[in-house]
Amino acid sequence: MAAKTIIAPSILAADFARLGEEARAVEAAGADWLHVDVMDGHFVPNITIGPDVVKALRPLVKIPLDVHLMIAPVDPFLEAFRAAGADIISVHPESGPHLNRTLKRIRELGAKAGVVFNPSTDPSVIRWMMDEVDLILVMSINPGFGGQSFMTSQLRKIETLRQMIDATGRDIPLEVDGGVTPETAPKCIAAGATALVAGTAVFRGGPDKYAANIAALRG
Ligand code: DX5
Ligand code: ZN
Repeated sequence: MAAKTIIAPSILAADFARLGEEARAVEAAGADWLHVDVMDGHFVPNITIGPDVVKALRPLVKIPLDVHLMIAPVDPFLEAFRAAGADIISVHPESGPHLNRTLKRIRELGAKAGVVFNPSTDPSVIRWMMDEVDLILVMSINPGFGGQSFMTSQLRKIETLRQMIDATGRDIPLEVDGGVTPETAPKCIAAGATALVAGTAVFRGGPDKYAANIAALRG
């Protein structure tokens, strides 16, 4: 039997005025990781949160903090996010001049190093560096906002990356982010995804619904 799919609620869809309670509520509802979307208004057309918010969340939950950096340049901020408590730090290849150097730095800091693929980014960007990657994140929307529709064009990319991961023999999580719902989740899993980010689909309906919303994504 396949391993349980990792569910990573994106706090972008939480009530920001009650962020700590929201983080605890999704953990209690069965979340495996907490996905934190960091945006700078430059790399993506939206601004969200910085290391201080990650630091405030860290003591409130036990699950790993899965920090998705949508900022450029990204290198000057890696240390601050790691010090704040990020367990996984994922970066877009377009957010710095040397992806290999950035991934090495994340590992040096003691975090897992993730690579994020925009819809137009080709899997070949990590072809020669599979040994330096601890997580692969496929965007099934253009990054910047929650609540967008899932791009089915990305399913073929998930399949390609699944093959690349299998060829390594390593258990690298393959995560999908954007428009993940009970309808699109099974397609992602069938294509080879092992982790799903979901904002809208987890936080809709309020705290009483979180456990059922998370369970619905596992299929
Ligand atoms: C968008 C973020 C996503 C977003 C997903 O740039 O990376 O994590 O919160 O939101 P939903 O699940 O609503 O598409
Ligand atoms: Zn994200």
